Amino acid sequence: MRKKSESLKTDDASGRGSVEGYKVPFPGRMHGYTEEGIQAVLDVMRNSDGQTQGKYMRQFESDFKAYTGANHAFAMDNATNALRLAGVICGLKPGDEVIVPAYTFCATGIAFGQSGAKLVWADINPKTWVADPTDIERKITSRTKVLVVVHLLGMPVDMQAIMTIAKKYSLKVVEDCAQAPGASINGKKVGTFGNFGCFSWHGAKNMSTLGEGGMLTVKDDADASLVPGLRHNGVRGFEGERERYWVPAMSNVDIDIDGVWPNNFCIGEAQCALGSAELRSLDKINDTLIAQADKFKKGLSDVPEIEFAQIPAGYRHIFHQFVMHFNGSTCTARRNDLMDILVNKYKMRCIVQYYPLYRFPLFQKMGFGGHACPTLDAWWDDSFSFPWWCGMTDETITYMVESVKAAVKTLKRGK
Ligand SMILES: Cc1ncc(COP(=O)(O)O)c(C=O)c1O
Repeated sequence: MRKKSESLKTDDASGRGSVEGYKVPFPGRMHGYTEEGIQAVLDVMRNSDGQTQGKYMRQFESDFKAYTGANHAFAMDNATNALRLAGVICGLKPGDEVIVPAYTFCATGIAFGQSGAKLVWADINPKTWVADPTDIERKITSRTKVLVVVHLLGMPVDMQAIMTIAKKYSLKVVEDCAQAPGASINGKKVGTFGNFGCFSWHGAKNMSTLGEGGMLTVKDDADASLVPGLRHNGVRGFEGERERYWVPAMSNVDIDIDGVWPNNFCIGEAQCALGSAELRSLDKINDTLIAQADKFKKGLSDVPEIEFAQIPAGYRHIFHQFVMHFNGSTCTARRNDLMDILVNKYKMRCIVQYYPLYRFPLFQKMGFGGHACPTLDAWWDDSFSFPWWCGMTDETITYMVESVKAAVKTLKRGK
């Protein structure tokens, strides 16, 4: 039954993508582009003079502000850099502590590790499987400067509790919304609760801008005023009139935060034009994913061994991924036993998302292997994801549901 590791065999570094021999694949993309999106890219290719930092970027930012209700929005090259930039503007430096959920994609930890601050891992809530505010509050010390939350898999974190804690201890809050564009709590979109919201348009996300892309939302005007320079090598206009437009140079280069080098975190115009078009389909995509998740949950409602995250009332979980927990107590089996059957017998390309970050060599070697996350440790070894994309047919869903039922029955017989 056991196969040699096939790490990075797929054509997508996320571990998704086509692998031969599966009846239910795990595609690298959530969905195809609309004709409107394709035309938008062609339009920039054919007609746009400047290819970056122009009217399509401003339009995308304005569209995203309107969509989310954010005070400010800045298109960027990816969410990792949006997170990094948020950490820079929060003033994170060596000696500070930043609380980061341990259950997330590695980019969340890396972006804040780069600041030199100490990463303190937050545990998950046992019901929602995203960051637990109670655990976060327990881990605050006099050195804590920033709280990071991740709306992982599309599930919003309890932002009311987080913002109450942040206010009590005067902390900044960064929301990692990479997997949750359009997710909301009582109608208020994620990315508008904290000081910063960081979105990703990576190729596998619910919306994408040709494989890479991101957006930083900012609450305070003062923080927002720092973004354009830090995003674009400190480039800005000269103050005051110049007699000759070329003297001393076409544009000035200056500093926004004392001692902090700026970067180039810009995104191209074609990606921004596509972003505006993709944004118009986002709610429909999210609705489809939510409906799909409901079908699976209904189909498996008589299989108590398969557990789903509990969505609090008023929360819009947009199901970027469909993660489950296998409670094999009725048959003394574990997640890997179930996956062995689903993968090898029924050819469903199930995967495991994500790994507690403190278990990765990278974080251990950087000094962040220590943790106190008992809920995540107990839960994670029995968690797994179904193959997932937008527009799964009823036939595929039924096949997967029936396969899971048969696999659980087999495991029960073998107990
Ligand atoms: C939770 C989370 N945070 C951050 C990122 C980083 O996003 P990007 O690939 O746009 O840098 C991702 C992307 O996969 C993610 O899933």
